[in-house]
Amino acid sequence: MASTLYFIGGGNMVTAIIEAVRDKSESYPVDALYVQEISQARIEDLAQRFGVLAADPSSTPDADIVIIGIRPQDDLKTVLESVSQRFSPERTTVISIVAGYTIEQLEEHLGHDFRLARIIPNTLTTTGYGYSGVALNDQASENDIDAFLRTFGKPLYVEERLIDVITGFYPPNLVYHFIDAYVDAGVLAGLPRDIAKAIALDTLIGGTEFLKQKDVLPQVLLNINNSPGGVGITQAYTLNSTGFAASVQSAVLAAVNRTTALGKEAR
Ligand SMILES: NC(=O)c1ccc[n+]([C@@H]2O[C@H](COP(=O)([O-])OP(=O)(O)OC[C@H]3O[C@@H](n4cnc5c(N)ncnc54)[C@H](OP(=O)(O)O)[C@@H]3O)[C@@H](O)[C@H]2O)c1
Repeated sequence: MASTLYFIGGGNMVTAIIEAVRDKSESYPVDALYVQEISQARIEDLAQRFGVLAADPSSTPDADIVIIGIRPQDDLKTVLESVSQRFSPERTTVISIVAGYTIEQLEEHLGHDFRLARIIPNTLTTTGYGYSGVALNDQASENDIDAFLRTFGKPLYVEERLIDVITGFYPPNLVYHFIDAYVDAGVLAGLPRDIAKAIALDTLIGGTEFLKQKDVLPQVLLNINNSPGGVGITQAYTLNSTGFAASVQSAVLAAVNRTTALGKEAR
């Protein structure tokens, strides 16, 4: 049976979800896609690219799923109160993608009748490698949202306390930073940038695929590659002494803490 989806906020993350849903329209038939968005330019762009329908706070379509896609610093209170007045808990499941904003905070303005999921997707929605951390309220079950979530990532159903951790851990930004530094390293050592980029991307994919094939932790392969007094162990020593691991770990912890702080600061 086809579903009607109603997005509030049509920014970067919602656009990435809509793109993936449209790509998977055979496995997840969508009857209508509504987007309620403040920016006229954004809504026109979404309508032109994906055929979405512009909606406004006065419209009350019968949506199966409402997705709250605005930022923690936006007017969540007004948006949630409006959702509770315009949609019916019998038909509609509400999904929030707002970082740091808890189920308790959502229910404070939405009420306790709706089936509600707090999810954290990432932007890899069209690659087959995206994940969504998912926590449900007492009324919701996996069946309410699983087919929709699988159009743009692999759902990971977890306790809510892990959602902020996932938010800080799995945006692909860390990988982009690593590739950026890796390509620059090749250029610094004398490679042309296009060659450094091609090698960096394939090495990242190849190294990941090899780890999956062997089904071992990286330490096992490092132990094989790093022979006594060799090039590999010299590189490992340099990474250790310049704080590579601590730098990655500090960045993840800072992102997790920032996520929690954003939720506390939210309106
Ligand atoms: N980007 C990611 O990788 C990612 C991943 C997981 C979760 N999230 C979460 O997804 C949410 C959106 O993030 P984003 O990166 O997509 O932000 P974004 O690109 O800034 O999109 C937010 C959009 O919502 C619009 N908006 C603000 N208030 C509104 C309202 N009351 N009604 C309708 N539209 C409204 C904004 O318009 P104006 O700009 O004109 O105000 C903007 O177009 C955030 O809560 C974030 O935590 C993002």
